[in-house]
Amino acid sequence: MMSQRAVRVLIFTGSLRKESLNDRLAALAADAVATFGGVVDRARLSDFDVPHFDYDVELESGVPPGVQAFAERLKTCDAFIAASPEYNASIPGGVKDLIDWTSRIRPQPFNGKQALLLSASPSMAGGNRGLWSLRVPLEHLGMRVYPDMFSLAQAHKAFADGRIADATLQQRFEKTIECFIDLVEAAAQATTMEAA
Ligand code: FNR
Repeated sequence: MMSQRAVRVLIFTGSLRKESLNDRLAALAADAVATFGGVVDRARLSDFDVPHFDYDVELESGVPPGVQAFAERLKTCDAFIAASPEYNASIPGGVKDLIDWTSRIRPQPFNGKQALLLSASPSMAGGNRGLWSLRVPLEHLGMRVYPDMFSLAQAHKAFADGRIADATLQQRFEKTIECFIDLVEAAAQATTMEAA
């Protein structure tokens, strides 16, 4: 049987907030990815200096270094998991700026990567509408965005002891990550076989 290398996953938090609920969900995703055999690279929007997209700036000085740093991290990974807030039923502006800037790099770093979208919100819908907005530019850029998404409702009171307090929800969360990692592994293996 062919031995399989561990897949690398960039797990990204789309909030700048120190006490971010999405960052807590991203941390749980990192635990689950490691449990299911993946190698984790954790990143937060606050790790990268991302100005508003401005085509004049691009023409004058190219893609900003902070965006290039994000793109390098993305390039070294097989897959991308984003835990991103919903702002006004949509995508946070800072996340959109990062996507728009990154889309200017060639080869375009989102293209062909597997992605899984997560959200957490104090609301009853858990920020799920924001993920439908986030899906649009990522799919446009060629990401293979996993059909299932996970949104944690009432997230301000959903965590306990380093997990989701509701055992059924925690189980569903882990199953989502496990199935996603299975897919990423299968895709990575297919790419390796094609290259051989
Ligand atoms: C929000 N929030 C919010 N929540 C939601 O479920 N649907 C929404 O449309 C919005 N809209 C919204 C707009 C703005 C400008 C802010 C600041 C907040 C609440 C949001 O989900 C909450 O603040 C989360 O805690 C943000 O995620 P982090 O920073 O905790 O990861």
